[in-house]
Amino acid sequence: MKIGIYPGSFDPITLGHSDIIRRASDLVDQLIIGVLNNSSKHPAFTVEERVEMIKKVTKDIPNVTVESFSGLTVDFAKQKDARILVRGLRAVTDFEYELQIAQLNHKLHPGLDTIFLTTSVEYSYLSSSSVREIGSYGGDISGFVPKEVLKDVYDKIYKKKEN
Ligand code: PNS
Repeated sequence: MKIGIYPGSFDPITLGHSDIIRRASDLVDQLIIGVLNNSSKHPAFTVEERVEMIKKVTKDIPNVTVESFSGLTVDFAKQKDARILVRGLRAVTDFEYELQIAQLNHKLHPGLDTIFLTTSVEYSYLSSSSVREIGSYGGDISGFVPKEVLKDVYDKIYKKKEN
């Protein structure tokens, strides 16, 4: 069985992430979304909230599961018996960083290969941080996050003006 992991912060999940999840789930028998539990990154959403949101978005994809992990991605991969690590690339600027991480991970765990999926063009400008920024001012993020979690995202990050 071909098991893939798709690790990330997903703070929060965007339409770019869900696009990668759907396409990657077609390439493997089982795709495990690994949500990094790293409090030193000070995420806007708790790891439980991030896992729940991704579960809502992926509930119709039978071979996708979602869980949190802490520590090294390679150790998570070993624990899950995954041989494939999926990452999305939005632009050349992503590639430099991602290439380095992929090579480090391969050195740490030669049984794990990273595959890059290029983000669909309509999502190439999207990031979780821009979603947080726009949403915190009440801007329209409906074109950026999956509809299943739109309310969850606003409820958490929209800081209503007091005067
Ligand atoms: O969504 P992100 O924040 O771009 O995801 C980055 C992630 C979680 C894939 C990366 O930070 C990671 O793998 N972190 C776990 C720690 C680790 O394995 N580091 C080794 C590479 S330096």
